[in-house]
This record gives sequence, structure tokens and C-alpha cells, in this order.
Amino acid sequence: MAPKTSPEIGGMGHSVKRKEDPRFLRGLGNYVDDVNLPGMLYLDIVRSPYAHATIKNIDISKAMAIPGVLAVITGKDLEKYNLHWMPTLMSDTQMVLPVDKVMYQAQEVAAVLATDRYIAADGVEAVEIDYDPLPVVVDPKKALLPDAPILRTDKKDKKDNHIWHWEWGNREATDQLFSEAEVTVKEDIYIPRIHVASIETCGCVASFDKVRGKLTVWMTTQAPHAIRTVFALVAGHVGLSEEKIQIISPDIGGGFGGKVPVYPGYVIAVAASVLTGKPVKWIEDRMENLQADSFARDYHITAELAGKKDGTLTALRIKTLADHGYTDAAANPSKFPAGLFHVCTGSYDLKAAHVEVDGVYTNKPPGGIAYRCSFRVTEAVHTIERMADLMAHEIGMDAAELRMKNFIKPEQFPYKSALDWEYDSGDYGAALQLAMDRVGYNELKKEQAEKRARGELMGIGISSFTEIVGAGPSKHFDILGLKMFDSAEIRVHPTGKVIARFGTKSQGQGHETTYAQIVAEELGFPVDSVLVEEGDTDTAPYGLGTYASRSTPVAGAACAIACRKIKDKARKIAAYLLEAHEDDLEWEPGKFYVKGSPDRAKTIQEISLAAYTNHPPGMEAGLEAVNYYDPPNLTYPFGSYICVVDIDKGTGEIKIRRFVAVDDCGNIINPMIVEGQIHGGLTMGLGPALYEEIQYDESGNILQGSFMNYLLPTAVETPNWETDKTCTPSPHHPLGAKGVGESATVGAPAAIVNAVVDALWHLGVRHIDIPITSAKVWKLLRDAGVRG
Ligand code: CDP
Repeated sequence: MAPKTSPEIGGMGHSVKRKEDPRFLRGLGNYVDDVNLPGMLYLDIVRSPYAHATIKNIDISKAMAIPGVLAVITGKDLEKYNLHWMPTLMSDTQMVLPVDKVMYQAQEVAAVLATDRYIAADGVEAVEIDYDPLPVVVDPKKALLPDAPILRTDKKDKKDNHIWHWEWGNREATDQLFSEAEVTVKEDIYIPRIHVASIETCGCVASFDKVRGKLTVWMTTQAPHAIRTVFALVAGHVGLSEEKIQIISPDIGGGFGGKVPVYPGYVIAVAASVLTGKPVKWIEDRMENLQADSFARDYHITAELAGKKDGTLTALRIKTLADHGYTDAAANPSKFPAGLFHVCTGSYDLKAAHVEVDGVYTNKPPGGIAYRCSFRVTEAVHTIERMADLMAHEIGMDAAELRMKNFIKPEQFPYKSALDWEYDSGDYGAALQLAMDRVGYNELKKEQAEKRARGELMGIGISSFTEIVGAGPSKHFDILGLKMFDSAEIRVHPTGKVIARFGTKSQGQGHETTYAQIVAEELGFPVDSVLVEEGDTDTAPYGLGTYASRSTPVAGAACAIACRKIKDKARKIAAYLLEAHEDDLEWEPGKFYVKGSPDRAKTIQEISLAAYTNHPPGMEAGLEAVNYYDPPNLTYPFGSYICVVDIDKGTGEIKIRRFVAVDDCGNIINPMIVEGQIHGGLTMGLGPALYEEIQYDESGNILQGSFMNYLLPTAVETPNWETDKTCTPSPHHPLGAKGVGESATVGAPAAIVNAVVDALWHLGVRHIDIPITSAKVWKLLRDAGVRG
């Protein structure tokens, strides 16, 4: 879409430089740990070395003897206020601090309050806890065996470790298609636990003003309003009432879903501040963040795909065990226990599908974070894209040809999927064709054949994913009953400057720039005249926050609609000033003019002044509007990624030679920011594909508890991402935009795995679970008798 505004105005389609970057680049951001208040106390947390154990005794005497240690808070202390448990977003319960037993290694057991951060750490070392170890369950399959120890003994009637069973789709029709299928493929796919490793860890500064009875919390949260309401609901009985709670989410150093949940540390810091009347700071260290905060994925999937020998796909059947750790604290505001996993039919026009998911408790930290993903969409995309490839290889058909044959066609949109989603728009064939042209697909296939003949290992992998973002329509989503709208409140000042506030919260995505561009697009104010604010519940309109690429689909739409309300009033003022009829006015970005007389015009700045000084008699002064937007549907961005790998036969090392990513997020607000989102997202897809996994041994000890062995890709491992785009606007979004933040993270891993399996298929390799480490490949090569 060519920009409608000039570069000076900087509306949609301009690569406006990020307004927030000067402060970030100069180290002048204001993150939670930058907040320092007079008299502030510090909290540090004692964590369990055991994955499952009874707490026999907590001796705090040595800790209390350390000068500067003021208190050691235990579960029993919180129990007095009924704050030792809290609800999760999934209507489960989670301990703030345990009273009688711990459920995972690194769980919070007690908290030390001190005058200094280092004294608090010394206090943590000095707390002595007697544990009685209990049998540990780390494998969700074993957790369901009849003789497995029951973990949630706090739930009186719970007689097993099964949390819920959920199924969706037409079982009979699916089974029928499978029984009639000419060809079927089946695979066990494990999508391992991974962890959001944002640069900033979690933390807060809680400050309770005893005189005013007001609690202010600076907090690393992606959803400040929802947190405020949750605090009021959970702690209303101890006097915290919603109008007296202010949550401020200042600059946030990456969220990716990991900053949606309420972690015990936040609650303990708040309780400590309310009890002492002093500000209390709690900041996790890197290892606490990695070991104890909520995790993503951990889906054990068995998938089957049915089709015909000519490559026509007909039906999909999936069974999944979802390991939720000791509580279902998934960051999943949908009405479905497995989130949006049933978008797993992907980009393909299947006749029927059926999905079953069972949630299971184990002795691990809570799982279910939507790590740069709309609630299990990564798991869904990985599954269908692996299965499509498996089918192509099985019937000896080119993987691109099979996809082209089965794509939902442009004329089928809006398209109702076999699992009931209504896809808004798409042109999957165009995206794949562009990716094939960019990468030189046919030449690469020839090269691969030649290399294979010479015994060299080269693979080409495709992922043609469909995403589902913009949570969400209230028919599908809520958080503890709160509908998932989002909001914009826009005020135009007399001098033609604008403040725009939103219920979302940027964590690095560039909202201060892109929302300003929407205002510029709609009202013609230059981007530089628009100040964007988010994250302070005392000033921002109520919204449900930023995750799952929902900001553009929901708050972006609210912004456009609020601007249009302002424009309607501006038109009336302009008509009055120009002594013309409203219907005789034309708009061009930045001014209204009389049809046929472009000189008879009023700029938006002149109109802004008139709104306060010379507005029509009987009209209210001012120029402002609010919109709360409940989207009619989700948006369905998509893309086609092609990855080319070369594999070293001696070491199993995978080298990504090319990676072409074609994305379609409808109309783009800021092309440079979107490209940045895709680059970052691709690297966050590379990590889980090749390096990242959190594992536990039989005793529940975490095996990747630090960055020494939880491997994040750096610039060294990251290949040169080649990006391109197609543009298929969303028909229901006021700007035709779809979300983009998570697309690349969701779509990339399958392309990489498909490329590696493609390189090894002739050696009998059918599937490799991520992360595909060199060691895994080396073993496969050794087993196949391949020598380097
Ligand atoms: O909710 P979140 O901000 O993480 O995701 P998003 O709505 O996909 O937006 C990520 C960034 O890309 C924001 O700065 C958006 O304004 C920008 N974006 C864009 O410029 N054009 C789009 N069509 C979608 C997103």
C-alpha cells in the first residue's frame, strides 16, 4: 500500500524512525529496576532445592540475626491473611508461598526483607529449612499411571494428576475419512519446554502509602489493567480497593508472554509494603527467572494426516498431552483449555479434523506461557507443517506442490476451517510462490539432487503457516470474565498537539511510534506532534494489555476509530469556520477544504485551536475521543518460509545457508518496525528449533538452569534473514492491518526442521524433535552408517 500521507506527516506505510529509541540507545530508559524510592526495602526469595517435598520446619533465627534483615516472610505468615494461594488465569490455584509442601525445584519458600539487596541475599542463605522429600513426577505420561503419586493433595477430591480433557472437531467425520484414506501418516511430535529469556527479568517496586491508603506498583507486566483488577479481587479483603491501586508498567525489556502471569514475588512484595508502609523492591536474578517463572510449550503430540495418493489432504487427527507443571497457570485468556491449538488445520482446506488435549500435573514450574505466540499456535503450526511435509515425502511429491494443491484458495475467504475458525483473508499461494522465486527453489532442488548423488547432505524446508492473532472477540476470550477489548483515548490540545493513551503496553515493539502513525494517518497530525502513553492504570484507558500480537488488531483499531470520532467533530468545526456545509468538505491528510475550492481550507491545527476558542454555538468544547474495541474476529496473518541447510556429515552441524521469509500482515503501519519484528521473531524461532530446551532429571532437577546450558542464539548463530512481503488486508480491521509480532517465531521452527529432515530423509529419518542439536543429527548419521 503506497502511503497516503507525506513523510513529514508520517502516517501508515512510512518507515518512521522509532520515537522511543533515543532514550533506549543512550541508556536512559526507565525500567522497573531504575525506580528507587526513599526508604526502599529489598526482597529476596528462598527457593526449594527439591522438586517435591514436605516442609518440616523453617528456622529464620540466623537470618533474623543479620543486621539489616527486617523480616522473613513464610507461607504461614501469608496464611493469616489468606494470601498464601492465589488464582491462576485458568481458574486453577497457585501458591504464593507454601505452607506444607513444595511442588517444584526453585519454588519460592520464604522471602527475606532487608534494608539492602545484598543483605537480603545473605538472609536468604541463612534461612534453614528442613524438607522431607516426596516422590517426584516429571513425565506427564507417568503422571497419569494409576500408581502415580497424587500431586495436588491440596485439592481434597483430586484422585489423579489429570487436569482436564478437551476435544474439538468432528470425530466421526474424521474417523470416516481416515478409514477411506488412500494414504495416512502418523508421527509423535514433542514440543519441549522452553523459556522466555527476555533481557529484563521480572520484578516490581511496591509502595503503599499508609496515609492515603494507596498502593502504587511499578511492575514488569504486559497487562497492567488486568493485574490491577486481579490484585483488587485477590486482596480486596485486606483493604486493597481498585481505585486505590495504581499499576505502572514503565519501560519493559521484552515480555514475550513471560510477563503476563502474576508471580509470587509480586504478591509478596506488595504484602511486605502494605505491612511495613515502606516501598519494597523485588527483582529476580537471571537464574531465578530461568528456573522458576512460567514456561512455554511442553506438548506431547501424536498427529495423523489422511489424504489421497495425488496429494489431496483430507483429514487431521491429533491427541496431545499438555504438561502444565504443578498448576495450570497458562497465560490463556481464550475459552478453550488448549488455547487456539485448534487452528492446527493451518493453511489447508481439510474436510474434517478432530483434536484432543489432556492437561496433566507434574512437579515442574507452571507451564503454558504463550511464548511469542497466541496460546498454542506455535504448537499447532509446527504440527501441521511437519505433517504436511511428512505426507509429501511419503507419497514422493514435492513439498511446495503439495502445499499449493491444498491451500485454501483466495476466493474461499472468509473461510470456515474444519475446526470452526473463520479465517478473514489470505493468498497463501502468492506468498509461497514469492518465497520460491526469491530463494530460487527449482535450482536448489536440482543442486540438492546433484549433491545427494555425491553423498552430500543438503535440505530444503518449507513452512507455509497461518497465524491467528488479535485476542480477541469476546465470544472466544475473557480474563476472569473481563472481555478482551482494548482501548484508545485521544486528546487534541489547542496548539494542535496530541496525547494518545492505550490499554496495551509496549515491551519493545515500538508502539510510541506506530500508534502515533495511526493518528497521523487518520488526522494528519505529524507523528512528532503525537505523544503516546501506555502502562499507567491511573491515566490509560482500561485495556487487556499486549501479548499474542494483539496490539495492532485491537488497540490499533481502537485508535483508528477514536481518531474517526475526532475527525467527525473536526469536520463540523471546519464547516462552521468555512461557512460551508459539512457534506461539501473534502479531507486530505491534515486539512478539510471546500470541494472545488482547495484554497478555502482549514488545517487540523486551526481546527484544534477552534475547538477550544471558536467552536460552533451549542457544541461542547474540546477535541477528544475514546474507543473500546471488541474485535468482530481475529486476524489471520500468514507467510511462507523457506530454509536451506547444509549438514556436516562428520559432526552433524547444521548450517542454515539461506532463509527466505515472506510475511503477510495486511496493511503495514511501519515497514521498518515490521521487518524488525520479523528479524527478531525469526531468531526466536531459530532458538527452539536448534538450541533451546528445558529438561528435568528423574528427581525433578532442572538440567538447563543457566545460560551455560540453556543456549540462546546470538548474532553468531543467526543466519542472514532474507525478508519479503505480500499484502492481503484484513477485511474487518478498520486499517486492514493484521498483527505480526509473533508470526516469525511461530512459523520458523517448522521450516528449519523440515529442511533438516529433508536432508536426511533418504537415510530413513522421518522426524526429529526440536531442538535439533548437532549431537542428535550426529547420532542419526552414525546409526545410518554415514561417515564424515
Ligand atoms: O501486540 P504486539 O505489539 O506485540 O504485536 P503487533 O500488533 O503485531 O505489533 C508489533 C509491532 O509491529 C507494533 O509496533 C505494530 O504497530 C507494528 N505493526 C505494523 O507496523 N503493521 C502491522 N500490520 C502490524 C504490526
